[in-house]
Amino acid sequence: MYKLEDGIIKLENGVIKEGLIAVASGKGGVGKSTVTVNLAIALAEMGKSVGILDADVHGFSIPRIIGLKDSVKVKDKKLIIPPVVNNIKVISMGSFTSEKSPVVWRAPLLSGALQQFLQEVEWGELDYLLLDLPPGTGDMALDIMQKLPHAELLVITTPQTTAVNVAGRIGKVAEGLDIDIIGIIENMSYYQCSDCGNKEFIFGQGGGQKLAEELNTVLLGQLPLDINTRQGSDQGLPIVKEDPEAEISQRYREISGKIDSREHKFDPNKKPLALSDGLACH
Ligand SMILES: Nc1ncnc2c1ncn2[C@@H]1O[C@H](COP(=O)(O)OP(=O)(O)O)[C@@H](O)[C@H]1O
Ligand SMILES: [Mg+2]
Ligand SMILES: [Zn+2]
Repeated sequence: MYKLEDGIIKLENGVIKEGLIAVASGKGGVGKSTVTVNLAIALAEMGKSVGILDADVHGFSIPRIIGLKDSVKVKDKKLIIPPVVNNIKVISMGSFTSEKSPVVWRAPLLSGALQQFLQEVEWGELDYLLLDLPPGTGDMALDIMQKLPHAELLVITTPQTTAVNVAGRIGKVAEGLDIDIIGIIENMSYYQCSDCGNKEFIFGQGGGQKLAEELNTVLLGQLPLDINTRQGSDQGLPIVKEDPEAEISQRYREISGKIDSREHKFDPNKKPLALSDGLACH
């Protein structure tokens, strides 16, 4: 699938220098894809070269959230050129299901999509590749984590007990697979009244911190419930770009700063699965 050389990830058509970050959640609807997009933009604004691979092939939503309109282009009938939007290179199943899809590259078979997305896309030089994982610990998410031992897991949860419990399960799975956990982001932590500034903890309090302790990692930040974030996500206008001064955009920048300043190097002792290790498309 890829090689580790000189301390960086070498893909068939690109490199990843600073981090392969798998964004995960226990269940859907906690804001995983929204967080992926806004973090990617915050990292790009720091001058990083960033790609998003939408690995949620059944429930893809990255194209809508990031406002992707261009379709993919094909070079020499085999290499996929990812469209760039808001400075982010984006590859999603969503780009292969429309009528405008390049004929030479029919919708990749679901089971082989990750491999194709990693190998046949001209990613070029990336600092970070963010992977929007399918929610939960189903076969898909598990499969992806197994194949990418150099990925680091970023767990998104709301403060709600049920969300925290299921997110805990994915963290345990990652631990079992010896995948590092970068940290927890608690989304929808509170709602702040725009009139009086009073904070209401709609989904409870303390869930993200508790999960961080359980998984021996850090709480990277807490993001408020924010109506403009929701509207922006629906319209392809990510909040970090649209309203850089908003409280939530500042939180996103803090989190991306923490991620970028973490001590990290790809572990040379971990071996990516070789192509022969049962990775054939089926
Ligand atoms: N902080 C937030 N405040 C308000 N709405 C949010 C926030 N984060 C995400 N949303 C909204 O919640 C819904 C689910 O978000 P999404 O990113 O699709 O979640 P997931 O990928 O976990 O299924 C979307 O309508 C999105 O706009
Ligand atoms: Mg999603
Ligand atoms: Zn009020």
